[in-house]
Amino acid sequence: MSDTTNESTPSTANFWQSFADRFGDSLQSLARVLTGGTQKPPRSLKSLLSGTPWGHPLHPAITDLPIGAWTVTVILDIIWLIAPASNGWAARGALVSSIIGLIAALGALITGLADWSDTYGAERTVGFYHGLLNTAAFLFYLISFILRLPSPMNESIAAAVLGFIGFVALLIAGYLGGDMVFVKGTNVNHTAWEAAGEDFEPVLPVSSVEEGHLYRVTVAGVPVVVLRRGEQYYAISATCSHAGGPLDEGSLDGDVVECPWHGSRFCVRDGRVLTGPATVPAPRYAVRVRNGQLELRRLGGH
Ligand code: FES
Repeated sequence: MSDTTNESTPSTANFWQSFADRFGDSLQSLARVLTGGTQKPPRSLKSLLSGTPWGHPLHPAITDLPIGAWTVTVILDIIWLIAPASNGWAARGALVSSIIGLIAALGALITGLADWSDTYGAERTVGFYHGLLNTAAFLFYLISFILRLPSPMNESIAAAVLGFIGFVALLIAGYLGGDMVFVKGTNVNHTAWEAAGEDFEPVLPVSSVEEGHLYRVTVAGVPVVVLRRGEQYYAISATCSHAGGPLDEGSLDGDVVECPWHGSRFCVRDGRVLTGPATVPAPRYAVRVRNGQLELRRLGGH
């Protein structure tokens, strides 16, 4: 019994994985182009869609709008179905909430594409089906909306049923979206657990630190990147807040380091995010020189 289970689970997983992989590469390339990921810095469109100007991922905030609007549509459709003759007001309300959901869903779609274009492996697979189901939900609601148009006072049962089917697709897509964040760790802040330090720690002899180079050191078990500019020293977390890329392996342009994974750019002086997809600044470290040693201490906050 258990052998059968053990054999069937991986093959089922492989089917979903290979189906997503068949379209994943070309879809991701297209998504990168559409969402500005292939542009040169400052990649304003990519930053905007990622939520960089607000310091918070934009996609999860926008998804609340179509979910809320279409939940209202479902409730109003049920009210209308119970007593179509006397509940025409519910049909009119369902028409309005369904169009609000459609408009908001376009925003969720484009911001979701921007986020998904930077995913790999299992999170890319889950994201593929998350997007597929959301697209299906959008199409169901679009057809449902068109069916309501001729007479919103007397919407058809077909329009309501299509909306219900779209809502089920939306709920499953929402579940997969949660799986991406809470299980796969997509778009969580990868520096969230870097706590502020009490004491300075020696990390490097000052004499070994050259101007304009990035040095990876460890402070309280956390990788940190150090930069010297004249007699000033700056240090920020070496972990990119977006998905954990190694900033010490990134390219340096003046005081700006670019993550080698998806191109987020951080100011090494103060940790600010200059270009997304990262939305959270890099944690900063205080630097001092004692007895010929560079000493670092994690500062509080971001
Ligand atoms: S890990 Fe994605 S930009 Fe750094």
